[in-house]
Amino acid sequence: MKGVILAGGTGTRLAPLTKLVNKHLLPAGKYPMIHYAVAKLAQAGIDDILLVLGKQSAGLFIDYLGSGKAWGVRLTYRIQEEAGGIAQGLSLAEGFVDPGEKMVVLLGDNLFEDDLQPYVEQFRKQQQGALVMLKEADDLNRYGVPVFLQDNIIFIEEKPSTPKSRYCVTGIYMYDASVFQVIRHIRPSQRGELEITDVNNAYAMEGRLGYGLLSGWWTDAGTFGSLREAGEKLGGPQGEER
Ligand code: G1P
Repeated sequence: MKGVILAGGTGTRLAPLTKLVNKHLLPAGKYPMIHYAVAKLAQAGIDDILLVLGKQSAGLFIDYLGSGKAWGVRLTYRIQEEAGGIAQGLSLAEGFVDPGEKMVVLLGDNLFEDDLQPYVEQFRKQQQGALVMLKEADDLNRYGVPVFLQDNIIFIEEKPSTPKSRYCVTGIYMYDASVFQVIRHIRPSQRGELEITDVNNAYAMEGRLGYGLLSGWWTDAGTFGSLREAGEKLGGPQGEER
């Protein structure tokens, strides 16, 4: 299984720091944010990883991560030129992920405690389709929120004012290579981007969207508050090991 880390984006909610450096290079605990996504994939046994970057700070990612040797992984880099959305960034992995192969996709600003290995195994056994990782959260109107029928996700509502479950869809996704076909069929949203939630809904509506539930802490470190919170969690004694 391949790994894809999406680390583009402008990080406007972390301005003015992000005027200087890409969000994923800001410190979280003792490492730059991007460190953890690579480490989490390595921990799950994913050793062939594509990083999708914006043009901003691209050289600094290479300064820090290099070939990936320090993590025991092999890194490939691609540049997302336009602010086309998460799904557009993911489309750049076509050709890196072979037809018939599966992938784990991480949004680089998602920091979390769980080891992904059991979920990667779960997805290996899932015949086809996609899998999203969920987490119970309070501030659900910031996220995608699944709607369940019995135990199945039938739809994901993006940033709902009235959430229909107590879970958010985290930025941890798994897909088979049909995702590239799905991305070709979705249309830009009102904000002009190809939305990952529209991709996941294509699977949900066909009954091909599995899910797993994170048990440890999770945060989307895209705001000053959540970045500070992640830093506190990662900076403790256990943070040394991660
Ligand atoms: C994106 C997804 C959203 C998901 C979130 C997780 O939101 O669209 O469904 O819950 O990542 O971090 P964004 O951070 O782009 O607003």
